[in-house]
Amino acid sequence: MKKTIDEHAARFDSIAGEYDDSQNDTEEYRACVSLVIEHADPNPDDVVLDLGCGTGAIGLSLADSAERVLGRDVSEGMMERAREKAADAGIENFEVEYGTFRDPNVESADIGSSETPQADGRDARVDIVVSNFAMHHLANDEKREAIHAIAALNPRRFVLGDVMFFGEPNPENPLYSPEVDDPATVGMLADALTDAGFALTAVEMVHEQFGVLVAERSPNGGRTVEE
Ligand SMILES: C[S@@+](CC[C@H](N)C(=O)[O-])C[C@H]1O[C@@H](n2cnc3c(N)ncnc32)[C@H](O)[C@@H]1O
Repeated sequence: MKKTIDEHAARFDSIAGEYDDSQNDTEEYRACVSLVIEHADPNPDDVVLDLGCGTGAIGLSLADSAERVLGRDVSEGMMERAREKAADAGIENFEVEYGTFRDPNVESADIGSSETPQADGRDARVDIVVSNFAMHHLANDEKREAIHAIAALNPRRFVLGDVMFFGEPNPENPLYSPEVDDPATVGMLADALTDAGFALTAVEMVHEQFGVLVAERSPNGGRTVEE
């Protein structure tokens, strides 16, 4: 990671107020948001975890179609904006709290499977994990650890939208900030996902530097998409 978690948090705190207006200006960002939402496709009784939820672009859009959405982020400013937007829209099932990729702060009470409801009768599980434009802040070894932490939550699907390289990165035209961002190649992400027991079921190239990967639990591991 080129910056510490606290440095990333402070950076996003300082831009939280204008984040929605500035970030939404890019075609690639909008395309990734749409694809992540489309591929997440939760059922009404699903619990969705949105890692690096920011101001809620993904979590707020999925809240209507899921039972609960757990938004996790490290920037208080971004989370506060997400909570305000949820309140303004009357959305009560988007629960935003501090959590990192490697330690998403999902209480054991939230983890399990549809077959293992808690003693209080509430279902205990994370069914779908989504993350958009956030994992590229981690170094590759940290991304691998994060993907293993996500797999340990036992979701049936993980949808990752992010800066990622489909070909050789073009140093003349980086569509990210090399001083703070650390994007991976699609190959590295695919390997990490399959190593963690996911099967890659869709690869959406939005641009040679942006894409969306869909990974599903795979009892036997291995890829399901032709490469
Ligand atoms: C570019 S924003 C994306 C926000 C949102 N997912 C979206 O699509 O608009 C990246 C977010 O990742 C968060 N973030 C950075 N490092 C993180 C980490 N290690 N764990 C969790 N969130 C992190 C930042 O605070 C920021 O809100």
